[in-house]
Amino acid sequence: MRLGEERIEPGEAEAIAALVKSNLPTVWTEGETGKRGQHAKHHGLVEGEFLVHEHLPEGFAQGIFQPGARYACLVRFSNGSRGDDREADARGMAIKLLEVPGDKLMPGGGDGREQDFILVDFPTYFTATRDQYAAFNRYALPVLALRGNGVSPARLLRAAWGAVMLLARHRDLSRRARRFAGRHAGSVLGLTFHSTTPYLLGDGRAVKYKAIGRGPDRPPADHPGALREALWAELGKEPVRFDFGVVVQTDPLAHPVEDPTVEWEAAGADFVELAALVLPQQENTPDKDARAETLNFLPWNSLAEHRPLGFINRARREVYRAMSRLRHRKTRT
Ligand code: HEM
Repeated sequence: MRLGEERIEPGEAEAIAALVKSNLPTVWTEGETGKRGQHAKHHGLVEGEFLVHEHLPEGFAQGIFQPGARYACLVRFSNGSRGDDREADARGMAIKLLEVPGDKLMPGGGDGREQDFILVDFPTYFTATRDQYAAFNRYALPVLALRGNGVSPARLLRAAWGAVMLLARHRDLSRRARRFAGRHAGSVLGLTFHSTTPYLLGDGRAVKYKAIGRGPDRPPADHPGALREALWAELGKEPVRFDFGVVVQTDPLAHPVEDPTVEWEAAGADFVELAALVLPQQENTPDKDARAETLNFLPWNSLAEHRPLGFINRARREVYRAMSRLRHRKTRT
């Protein structure tokens, strides 16, 4: 097996079409605005600058990573599934670089000059195989579909059945899913975020992205909107930096492309810092909050040099597009 090599099992297109179908009911359709089925609650949309280092190791000057390159960017911080910041959850960091020249694999509804990176505050994803993802989808999505769509006895029954089946039949999977979404946080600016899934970095090199927040640590959230409050309180005082880089695959078996439950760094892969993401001192505005709802982030909104790899990313290409179309349709009506 080569570095960066993908394995596509027969029947993948049908499997992904089924995932799209089962994810659609998780989009929130109650109220005026369609909301994301996952990561619906945002803490803020922050303006930033992405500054590539002047000196890069040999072979790493690929795509957007050109020595000294600078990009304006937007960063959306979110909860994975919870509305109350005191609860254990995963936190998301979605980065959109602006005015990036070059064709994108799949422009995400913007001006075609954007490059997205989507990260969470945990190094691994929780499903190892396509079958495991299908099981998670089957049993856990009825629980997610309860939010934002009204509750009926039939929906409650489906959600309870799903929770029981997941625990009974897929113990490892439900343990990993609980760890993935099982942390308390006091500020998103001090967290370390990971792509969990791999991406190309030029030809034949696979990497995972990692962003290390250098903001102050804060005690865990003590009220439902504490993360938003902390974000804007800190950015109102001073700039905050994230160190951005890649964890590099050096062994295709120890650092698999198709199984995102494996933590590459724990299995000997090195982290290489390539850029600083600086969030200048700033304040929130109603416009930023509105854009956080309507923007689209998509792993495939990307230069070919950073092509997403692995089943989960291939599935996200279809799921995110379909979900975003649905929520935008709702918002227009
Ligand atoms: C097949 C697996 C996955 C599915 C089905 C899925 C599904 C979704 C959906 C439906 C959305 C909302 C999209 C929209 O309406 O625009 C979303 C957003 C998001 N997902 Fe995933 N996801 C998957 C894997 C992952 C992975 C591996 C990560 C790890 C980084 C991740 C992190 C995020 C984040 C941070 C957001 C919020 C992006 C934003 O701020 O707009 N997801 N996901």
